[in-house]
Amino acid sequence: MLLPLSLLALVLSTLADDEGAVTDYAPATNQPCPDITTAPLLRVFTPLNQTLHPREAGYVNTRFTQVIPSEWTNWAGDGSAIGYNLSVFGNNYTKIGIAISGGGYRAAQYAAGVISGLDARNESAKAAGTGGLLQVASYLAGLSGGSWITGSMYMNDWPTVKDMVYGNGVNTSGWLLDLALATPDGDNLFSKLNQEWYGSLLWSVVAKANKSIDTSLTDPWARMISFHFLNQTSRDNFFTNDTAHGAGQLWSKVPETPPWLEHVPPFPIIQADSRPVGSNLTTALPPGPVVYEITPMEFGSWDPDLSAMMNISYVGTHLNNGVPDNDTACVTGFDQTGFVMGTSASLFNQILDRAHNDIQGFDDSAAKSILYVLSRQLAEVRTRADDVANWPSPFQGIKPNNFEDSSSNWLELIDGSSNKENVPLGQLFVKARGLDAIVAIDASADDPVNGWPNGTSPLSSASRITTLLQSSHQNFPPLPGSSADFISTGVNQRPTFFGCYPTQNPPEFPMVLYFPNAPPLSGDNPVSNTGTFKLQYTPKHTELFLDLVHNNTIGGFVPNSNSPDPNFGRCLQCAAIDRARYHLSPPLARSSFCMQCFTQYCFDPNNKTSSSELPNRKLVFVDPDPQGVSKVEGFLGHSKIPIIFGFIGAAIVIGAIIAFLTWRKRRQHRAATYQKVMEVHDDDAFLARSMAPGYDHRASVASDFAYELAQPRDPHATSDIPYVPEAHVPAADMPEAGEVPR
Ligand SMILES: *[C@@H]1O[C@H](CO)[C@@H](O)[C@H](O)[C@H]1NC(C)=O
Ligand SMILES: *[C@@H]1O[C@H](CO)[C@@H](O)[C@H](O)[C@H]1NC(C)=O
Ligand SMILES: *[C@@H]1O[C@H](CO)[C@@H](O)[C@H](O)[C@H]1NC(C)=O
Ligand SMILES: *[C@@H]1O[C@H](CO)[C@@H](O)[C@H](O)[C@H]1NC(C)=O
Ligand SMILES: *[C@@H]1O[C@H](CO)[C@@H](O)[C@H](O)[C@H]1NC(C)=O
Ligand SMILES: *[C@@H]1O[C@H](CO)[C@@H](O)[C@H](O)[C@H]1NC(C)=O
Ligand SMILES: *[C@@H]1O[C@H](CO)[C@@H](O)[C@H](O)[C@H]1NC(C)=O
Ligand SMILES: *[C@@H]1O[C@H](CO)[C@@H](O)[C@H](O)[C@H]1NC(C)=O
Ligand SMILES: *[C@@H]1O[C@H](CO)[C@@H](O)[C@H](O)[C@H]1NC(C)=O
Ligand SMILES: *[C@@H]1O[C@H](CO)[C@@H](O)[C@H](O)[C@H]1NC(C)=O
Ligand SMILES: *[C@@H]1O[C@H](CO)[C@@H](O)[C@H](O)[C@H]1NC(C)=O
Ligand SMILES: *[C@@H]1O[C@H](CO)[C@@H](O)[C@H](O)[C@H]1NC(C)=O
Repeated sequence: MLLPLSLLALVLSTLADDEGAVTDYAPATNQPCPDITTAPLLRVFTPLNQTLHPREAGYVNTRFTQVIPSEWTNWAGDGSAIGYNLSVFGNNYTKIGIAISGGGYRAAQYAAGVISGLDARNESAKAAGTGGLLQVASYLAGLSGGSWITGSMYMNDWPTVKDMVYGNGVNTSGWLLDLALATPDGDNLFSKLNQEWYGSLLWSVVAKANKSIDTSLTDPWARMISFHFLNQTSRDNFFTNDTAHGAGQLWSKVPETPPWLEHVPPFPIIQADSRPVGSNLTTALPPGPVVYEITPMEFGSWDPDLSAMMNISYVGTHLNNGVPDNDTACVTGFDQTGFVMGTSASLFNQILDRAHNDIQGFDDSAAKSILYVLSRQLAEVRTRADDVANWPSPFQGIKPNNFEDSSSNWLELIDGSSNKENVPLGQLFVKARGLDAIVAIDASADDPVNGWPNGTSPLSSASRITTLLQSSHQNFPPLPGSSADFISTGVNQRPTFFGCYPTQNPPEFPMVLYFPNAPPLSGDNPVSNTGTFKLQYTPKHTELFLDLVHNNTIGGFVPNSNSPDPNFGRCLQCAAIDRARYHLSPPLARSSFCMQCFTQYCFDPNNKTSSSELPNRKLVFVDPDPQGVSKVEGFLGHSKIPIIFGFIGAAIVIGAIIAFLTWRKRRQHRAATYQKVMEVHDDDAFLARSMAPGYDHRASVASDFAYELAQPRDPHATSDIPYVPEAHVPAADMPEAGEVPR
């Protein structure tokens, strides 16, 4: 008995160690570099000789030949229901990519609803004939809120949507969207639990900064996101340091996960945009600046101006002309999945309003929370630009005549939608990837009144591809000419296929299968057109959101009706397989069943449809759970102390400090195990200092926020206090879009 028990103890302690610590967010610096003469860290190419990373090509091709053929027969049987005999394709099907838009929690939930409708593991999707497309897809790309669900799927071992979003009590804990992203313990920033939680975020960020890597607002933001979308956080351990809460989960490690080893998931890509270094841009981007992608193999860009890729495992290492500063100047562990998701969603350069010490868009408590965390961070550590994601540049010296940041040793990465391409289509049009069809999951909130997409994102992608990426990317299929045309033709309110009628062989463009966030086809009230900055959802709202989107996804549409189309699943199969016809010589004719589908679902520039064929669609959001948030707070069940400024606020802070000190003492043995991150820097010392009588709040940037909280609420009294030391002036030659990212 003794031996098994001690073995059990050993196993248990090993398991506990596996949970890691939030300080695992810190990369490792001064690591030995590989011998770059035999194992270069960079691949530099041109649009004409672009190639995939060998491991990307290997993974995608193995799936294509060994997994996808049987998934096709699982999905479409022998093909007779869509008028084909699948065996004639000789296992040479289509390469399909799925692209998930940004838009915060709305986008993540919209994509969850769509993906559940395309997943063969979902019974109603399977019954409708739509479930199966996910399994035959070769790529999955996400940006911003779309990167959160992407990261979540890969870091939770490719779960079903149901397990991932709601948790299954076994190996997933759910997204916990009812715990507000920036203020999980409610609006009072100084509640004990919120304070402990901020301490946890800052502990991660300071650990990174102490490695001499510049952090920014993106870092605590990345940590906030990790609590929801990565796998080590449950309702029970949310306000603890008992696990790493996703710190240390590296994007480069996706290929070690069990589903990957079986070639189950498609190849993932996360997109981020860049702000030209030195531009200090605080508006939407023009199309020019380089668009980056981050895969489990590489970080870089296919844009003709750069056309270079960095080994993801060493990202964070500064290179000049491909050469590290010295043999031990390499960085590993920078590719934290949380930071990758945070970078893709780093929209702060457009919304941080330094003049008014505010963040536009966020509600008051979220904005205050984020500014408060930033102020404490700035008190501890130096940053370069605090409103962007700071990435050491591996591309310094590369393409000096074309690459705008060639002379910079840092890159300033920002939200992947900053150039108005809110769906990461560009990555899937890269010529070397050779895709046949691309599913665009678009949850953009373009319509300024009701928050529906109006085609702005695909129009922006088409325009960027046509004007800047002709040499590196495939052509875009024909679209309606404008967002007004998207609206009048109704193609933004129901699934639509673009590019159905190529005139060449091979076809001159891939197909785009467009799934816009749209009102329920049944005529029910919509619940999915919520704001990008809504950072808390009740469980009831999430469930209805996903179910309505799921129903729209599997239902297609029937002109002049509110009924689902019983043929939609088969029509989707027609679209997904269409380009495989061209792999045969001569190309196989399109089946008559599929031709019929295409007249209904394809955008035909010569025979436009009308939104009037989509009756009774309700456009105005109706909150399905109006009392919800207060119910959630009651449900949490700990005492809510209202924010009262002045002495009571100070008392709460002091209480939090005492709790913190007590906690720290208790956990000291554990802390000692990890890098001595701290003097974290004495969060306690900082807070105590700023609360001491006679302390000059204006002397420290960090205390400005505490100062503001301690003052009577007179905006004029505080607005002239300089908040952040650097002046950020928008460059005069950049456009003033003046709109927040969608
Ligand atoms: C691509 O071409 C460029 C110049 O034309 C050359 O420097 C580079 O080595 C080539 N790259 C590859 C991967 O073939
Ligand atoms: C499909 O084609 C294969 C050979 O290409 C043939 O053996 C099979 O009978 C065909 N199936 C049907 C249903 O026609
Ligand atoms: C969380 O995900 C990581 C990466 O996929 C994996 O190594 C780890 O085992 C998972 N942890 C839990 C608790 O599921
Ligand atoms: C997680 O648990 C669910 C429910 O028990 C199960 O269906 C699934 O296979 C498990 N996934 C993994 C990766 O173990
Ligand atoms: C985690 O530890 C850090 C550093 O000791 C502390 O600031 C923070 O409050 C702790 N968080 C929780 C939730 O206990
Ligand atoms: C951007 O900000 C930096 C630091 O404040 C400043 O030196 C630089 O001149 C600014 N650039 C522009 C174009 O305003
Ligand atoms: C190597 O470069 C790193 C990063 O620039 C620096 O921290 C380190 O001191 C250098 N080491 C040597 C031996 O020069
Ligand atoms: C489409 O959305 C964009 C972005 O919000 C907006 O500027 C434009 O006016 C909209 N177009 C129409 C026709 O409503
Ligand atoms: C399938 O999707 C529906 C609609 O969202 C959901 O109610 C159901 O639980 C899902 N089933 C599985 C196995 O994910
Ligand atoms: C989705 O469709 C199913 C089957 O038609 C229906 O029973 C269910 O109520 C629908 N869900 C919602 C939220 O409308
Ligand atoms: C599929 O067909 C294309 C076009 O004929 C060909 O280039 C490619 O090699 C084929 N792929 C496989 C795996 O058979
Ligand atoms: C135009 O499209 C409609 C369906 O939207 C179809 O019924 C009609 O036959 C098409 N007309 C032509 C000339 O293709």
